Amino acid sequence: MTRTGKSQRLSQHLAEPFAEIHPSDARQYGISDADILRISTAHGEVLLRALVTPRQQHGSIFVPMHWTDQFAAKARVDALVAPVTDPVSGQPASKNAPARMERFGAHAFGFAVLAERPTAIDADYWALARCAGGWRVELALEVDRDWTGFAATLFGHVETGETLAYHDTANGQHRFARFFGERLIGALYLAREPVAVSRGWAVEQLSATHADRRMRLAVVAGRPGGNQADRGATVCSCFGVGANQIAQAVQGGCASVEAIGAALQAGTNCGSCRAEIKGIIDARRLQAAE
Ligand code: FES
Repeated sequence: MTRTGKSQRLSQHLAEPFAEIHPSDARQYGISDADILRISTAHGEVLLRALVTPRQQHGSIFVPMHWTDQFAAKARVDALVAPVTDPVSGQPASKNAPARMERFGAHAFGFAVLAERPTAIDADYWALARCAGGWRVELALEVDRDWTGFAATLFGHVETGETLAYHDTANGQHRFARFFGERLIGALYLAREPVAVSRGWAVEQLSATHADRRMRLAVVAGRPGGNQADRGATVCSCFGVGANQIAQAVQGGCASVEAIGAALQAGTNCGSCRAEIKGIIDARRLQAAE
C-alpha cells in the first residue's frame, strides 16, 4: 500500500494493514499468524492483521503508517499516538508509543474480489486495495450476519446476472460468486478461520472470461480448476512474480537469488523482494534436506 493507494501493483504486495510481532509474544498472547489484533494505547485503538515474524524484536510491535480511513476500517496509526508535533517541522511524534495488544475475537473472516469499488463495507475489520480488474477486500466480523444480504451489498445490488452460492453452515463456510455475462462481478469467501483462498488466483478471475460453467464453479470453490495455475502470493511486485512460481523454479534447479532473477526477472529491479526470494530458496532447500 502507498499513501495514495493508487498503484494497483504496489497494493498487491501487502494489501492490508498489519502488525509485526515476535513469535514468543504471539505465543504468550495466544495469537496465530493471520489473526486480527486489537492494538490500543491511551489515545485510541486500531485493528490489524497479525504478522508473526522473528524479524520483529521481542516486546515490540511494528505498525506501518500508510493506511487511511479510505482503505481500512480502523488502521490509522496516528490514532495511537499523542497529538504532539515538532514545533519547527510539524512532524508528528509517531515513532513510538506504549501499547497493549489482544486477539480480536472474530466470528467470521472474509476475502472478496470486486469489479467495482464498494460504496460501503459494514464490517468491524476491512481493508480495501486496488488490484488488476478491480478491488480486493479483507474482512473480519465479530458477529453472525445474513451472509446473502452481506454479499449482495458488497457486490452492489446488481439485479441482473447470476449468483452462485455454497453454504456449509455447520463449518461456517459461505461462498458467493456473481457473474454478469461472462464477467465476474464479485466473489466473497467467508470462514471461521482466516480464509485460505489464493489471493493472486482470485484476483486473476476478475480479468478472466467465465463462459464455462466449470470455471464459474471453480470460482465458488475458491481454487483453480482444469489447467488453471496458481502463482501464489505476490513476492516480486515489480514483475508480478508469485511464491509458487519461485518455489517451482527452485525445484527446477534455481539455487540462488541471481538464478531466480535470470529465470523469472524477480528481484532484478528495485531489489526489495530479494530477501523474501532467499527465504523461499532456503525453505525449499531445508524441505528437500528433510
Ligand atoms: S519487488 Fe522490485 S525487484 Fe522485486
